[in-house]
Amino acid sequence: MKIGSHELISPVYVAPMAGVTDAPFRKIAREFGAGLACTEMISSEALVRRHRESFRLMDLDWDYRPVSVQLMGGDPGVMAEAARMAEAAGADIVDINMGCPVPKVVKTSGGSSLLRDPELAWRVSEAVVQAVSVPVTVKIRLGWDAATRNYLAMATRLEATGIQGLAVHGRTRAQRYDPSADWAAIAQVRAAVGIPVAGSGDLRTADDSIRRMRESGVAAVMLGRGILGNLWLVRQTVARLTAGEVIPDLSWMEQIALIRRHGDLVLDYYGAERGPRLLRKFIAWGLRGFRGAARLRTMVQSVASPDDVAEVLDRALAIDPGMRVSDDAFDDGPASCEAA
Ligand SMILES: Cc1cc2nc3c(=O)[nH]c(=O)nc-3n(C[C@H](O)[C@H](O)[C@H](O)COP(=O)(O)O)c2cc1C
Repeated sequence: MKIGSHELISPVYVAPMAGVTDAPFRKIAREFGAGLACTEMISSEALVRRHRESFRLMDLDWDYRPVSVQLMGGDPGVMAEAARMAEAAGADIVDINMGCPVPKVVKTSGGSSLLRDPELAWRVSEAVVQAVSVPVTVKIRLGWDAATRNYLAMATRLEATGIQGLAVHGRTRAQRYDPSADWAAIAQVRAAVGIPVAGSGDLRTADDSIRRMRESGVAAVMLGRGILGNLWLVRQTVARLTAGEVIPDLSWMEQIALIRRHGDLVLDYYGAERGPRLLRKFIAWGLRGFRGAARLRTMVQSVASPDDVAEVLDRALAIDPGMRVSDDAFDDGPASCEAA
């Protein structure tokens, strides 16, 4: 499949996730065969004010191509300027966030609040499309709430602004991350537009992705909470969708090796001071669902140095909690997107 002129190696996207889809995370996901990864959401206002952390979020040095940069904001002029900055920083695709439900974001008229103001959403989209020469995509939810599920009008009108791809999270803003995503609605969007549509919501296994893709006809699936602590799901999903191959889950030893690799990348990228703290949640997610790993997960909370990281993982190797018995990422996973 293609986004504009970019040919993707697989129809498996990494969902943009604030606080998660940083450079190390994207690198591993792409190594496992993801066709497209996206940065964390970046506030257009912060970017045009030259906020240092926003620039860091847009650092694409470690990325496989193509890579998408997601911008958030409700001011067409500011979004256009931020998009030009993203293009200058090397973005192959600029994605517009029209789904983030967090009140802080909604107050700025960005994220999902654009679903309540379609005219403004279209102006934002138009301004960004006109500002850059790279393809522009948009990520929406189904609407603001049950009474205003305007996804079909949004999708068709956004397509008319010249965007070249759409991702649909099958929930309204009011639903946040619960209950189940409405894939029938995602299928309706797919049927209503000519641009490639990616579906997002509740893809926990490779089987979920193949079933949802068949039923809805979407061009791509977008993996979200299912890959928190389980990046191997990217590999499993790519193999299932592209070759019909069923790849087993990782054993405990393999899982610890993957966490160690992720840890090495995070320490390398952020350094010994900041890296260990950032790693805590990733290690804890990686140990989730393994009975007998609860004590390790407690230990992880005080990890503060590369030595601490090594110690937790060495201790992990000394126990054998068996196979993963559950993946509770959907129960206690973070349920918000925070703007940086
Ligand atoms: C921790 C977290 C952060 C997220 N941050 C973003 C974001 O920055 N931009 C965005 O468009 N969606 C964001 N999302 C939404 C996801 O991209 C995805 O659409 C949503 O989680 C539904 O998929 P799932 O049910 O498979 O998790 C975030 C979700 C989570 C769990």
